[in-house]
Amino acid sequence: MEIITSKAALTEHINALIESKKVIGFVPTMGALHDGHLQLVKRCVSENDVCVVSVFVNPTQFNDKHDLEVYPRNVEADAQKLAAVGCAILFSPTPEEMYTEEERNTTFEFDFGGLDKVMEGKQRPGHFNGVVQVVSKLFKLVRPTRAYFGEKDFQQLAIIRRMVDLMNFEIEIVGCPIVREESGLALSSRNALLSEAERKTAAKIHAVLAESVQFLSQTSLEELRSAVVNAIDATDGLKTEYYAIVDGKSLRELDNWNQSDDIVGCITVHCGNVRLIDNIRYK
Ligand code: PAJ
Repeated sequence: MEIITSKAALTEHINALIESKKVIGFVPTMGALHDGHLQLVKRCVSENDVCVVSVFVNPTQFNDKHDLEVYPRNVEADAQKLAAVGCAILFSPTPEEMYTEEERNTTFEFDFGGLDKVMEGKQRPGHFNGVVQVVSKLFKLVRPTRAYFGEKDFQQLAIIRRMVDLMNFEIEIVGCPIVREESGLALSSRNALLSEAERKTAAKIHAVLAESVQFLSQTSLEELRSAVVNAIDATDGLKTEYYAIVDGKSLRELDNWNQSDDIVGCITVHCGNVRLIDNIRYK
């Protein structure tokens, strides 16, 4: 596996691959890789000639400086994991290599069509501007045929699909299912910040969401929403930031189950100091 840190060297490699008609698959990440990431990488390796993975903790998508500082980083361990599953190129630039001073300090403008006004976008102003900024930049550098994203970041996936449409990228966006621990806790780089006890408590999030699916036909949407929030908040150490039951495409909050046939519940919960996100499909 090649480890590349400069845009120029990456472009040279990509040019050679495209010239020899290789199909490039791409998995953008912020590192601290776990099995959730690696499932994306394995799929990318199996469906393309060459798999490129980026590891870059993107400063422009962190609206909270402390969160950026404590975000787990371990590129050496990441490189070993990636090599073991067949990744061909690891791109891991510094922020200075990725951005000019101006790019780092100006909000990247993008027409989200309202997708950024709800859930994560509402709670973390500017977050998705940074995500679109970095992913569009990476797409232009890597020029993949396919790019792989996890359904765990449900809103991010919807926004990336819109970005591809609006910016005319000829890239197939492949959404991949959420990978979970045996306890049900969705794998996340942020789980590394949880204590052993908190990790056990955090498993309750998925347990409550999974259980809620069976009440779909008996309960109104709002009753079910409140029941989920109450059950999670009744657990010592957990506090729900929001629970939104939305249309899977527009991400608009719904009032009743008949409003859409694509319904997903998206949640953010604080466990100690750690902010965890998860979601569940109702329809
Ligand atoms: P990061 O949080 O590192 O996630 C990289 C990719 O892995 C995302 O597509 C995410 O949805 C996926 N992923 C993370 N945990 C997962 C799990 N448990 N199951 C399935 N997929 C999972 O998302 C980002 O980085 C950044 O915003 C990025 C797109 C790289 C832009 O900076």
